[in-house]
Amino acid sequence: MVSRVIPVEPFDLVIFGGTGDLARRKILPGLYRRFLAGQMPAEARIIGAARSEMSDDDYRASIRAAIGEFVAKPKQDAATIAAFLERLRYVAIDATGDAGWDRLQEITRKDVIQAFYFSVAPTLFGPLAERLHQKGIACETCRIVVEKPFGRDLASARALNATLAEHFHERQIYRIDHYLGKETVQNLMAVRFGNILFEPLWNAQYVDHIQITVAETVGVGGRGAYYDKAGAMRDMVQNHLMQLLCLIAMEPPARFDPDAVRDEKVKVIRALDPVAPEEIVRGQYQANGREPGYREDAENPESLTESFVALRLHVSNWRWKGTPFYLRTGKKLKARTSEIAVVFKDPPHSIFGPQENRRGNVLAIKLQPNEGMTLRVTIKEPGPGGMRLVEVPLDMSFAEALGPNGTDIPDAYERLVMDVIRGNQTLFMRGDEVEAAWAWADPVIAGWEERGDRPFPYDPGSSGPEEAQILMHRDGRRWREIRE
Ligand code: BG6
Repeated sequence: MVSRVIPVEPFDLVIFGGTGDLARRKILPGLYRRFLAGQMPAEARIIGAARSEMSDDDYRASIRAAIGEFVAKPKQDAATIAAFLERLRYVAIDATGDAGWDRLQEITRKDVIQAFYFSVAPTLFGPLAERLHQKGIACETCRIVVEKPFGRDLASARALNATLAEHFHERQIYRIDHYLGKETVQNLMAVRFGNILFEPLWNAQYVDHIQITVAETVGVGGRGAYYDKAGAMRDMVQNHLMQLLCLIAMEPPARFDPDAVRDEKVKVIRALDPVAPEEIVRGQYQANGREPGYREDAENPESLTESFVALRLHVSNWRWKGTPFYLRTGKKLKARTSEIAVVFKDPPHSIFGPQENRRGNVLAIKLQPNEGMTLRVTIKEPGPGGMRLVEVPLDMSFAEALGPNGTDIPDAYERLVMDVIRGNQTLFMRGDEVEAAWAWADPVIAGWEERGDRPFPYDPGSSGPEEAQILMHRDGRRWREIRE
C-alpha cells in the first residue's frame, strides 16, 4: 500500500497557553509524533507563549517531561526528542497588556507559514487577536486556531465570531472540534462516498434509525468548575455529537474541499426539527457508596447540570424524513466507547416465513477504542432441519485489516494541527456552522432552565438513567449495548 502524505512547508507555530494542560497533553506530544514521523520540515519552529517567566531551556525541559508522560514509550526516542526540543522557543507574554509582544514580533519569521494557536480562555481571543495586529505580527496569510467552548449560546458565539472577524478572514480561522480529527470520523466519509454499496441505501426508505453513542467512564472530577456551567449538552452534544450527525446525514459534497463539505454539514443542522421536551432525557450520576456522585465531583450540592443526555432528533429533509436519529452521551457510564450505528429496515417481505428475534442489518462504525467497522448480515444457520436464519458480523478491525498502519492511528490533535499548517480547513468548523448548532441547542437548554427540569439520577458504571431506555422502547427500538 502506498501512502501519500502531503509535505508540510516551514512554519512558525505560536501556542498561546503554551504551558497549559492542552498544550502539554495533546498539542506538543502530537507535534513530536509528527516530527518523529518525518513530517516536520527542518525549518519548523514552535513558540510557546504564556504568562510565566521562563527561559527557552526551562520550557524545553517542561515539554520533555510532557513527552515522557503523554507519548507512548516505544515512540520516545532520546535523539529525536532532543532534535524536536531544539525547535522550541518560549516567550513570556501578557495577553491583555504589553509585555512580551516586541519579543514575539522579533522572533516570528515573516517568510514562513505562521499559525497562532489560542489555547486560552475565550475571553482572551479578542485581546490576542488585537495585539497580533497592533504589533504587526499577524499577516494576511497567517492562521489562528481556536478551541471549544466556542461560546455558551448563540449570542456569545456570534460575539466571538464578530471579534475574530474584526482581525481575521474566515479562511484564516480554524475552529477545532477534535472529534473531526479522529481517524474513524474521517473514515465515515470514506465509507459513505468511496463505496457504491452504502449510499443508495442511505436514506429513510432503507434506514430504520441511526444511533450515535459517545460514552465515557470518567467523571467530571477536577473540571467541575467548567463543567457545571456547561453540562453534557453544551460540552458534547452541541459540538462533537452534532458534527458526527452532520457527517452521517449530509448530502454528498461535490468535492472533498472545505467549503463543499461545510456547506453540506450546515444544511443538516438547519434541517433539524425543534426537540420536544419528551424527546430528551437528562441524567446525573449519583453517589453509590463506592464512588462520589456528580454533585460531589462538581462541588455543587444543588447542581441541576446534566452529565448524561439522550435525545431523539429528526432531520426534516427529503432524505431523512421519517428516520429518527438517537444520540446519547454521558460520563461515568459502564464503558468508554463511541460508535455510530446505522440500523437498516427489514426486507419488505420474508420468503422464509416468520423469523423470531430478527434484528436486521446494522452498520456499526466504532470511533474508539478499537477503531473499526462491523456490518451485521443475515445468513443461514448451518446444519440440516430447515431454513433458519442467523445474524453474523462481517468484522473489520482496522488494526487487523491494515496491520501496522491500522494500529498507528494518529491522535486527533496531531492531524488537525498539521492541517492548519497545510491550510486545509475541511475538518474545522466554520463560523456559520457553530452558530447554527447553537441556534438549535439554545431553545432546548432554555426550556430546561425555564421549567427547572431536574436530571434523572443514574448509577456510575450503568448505561445511564432508565428513562433513556424508555425513550427508545416507546418507539419499539432499543439502544445498542455500551461496551468497549
Ligand atoms: C471534550 C469534553 O471536548 O471531549 C470532555 O470537554 C470530554 O468533557 C472529551 O471528556 C472527550 O474526548 P475524547 O476524545 O476522549 O472522546
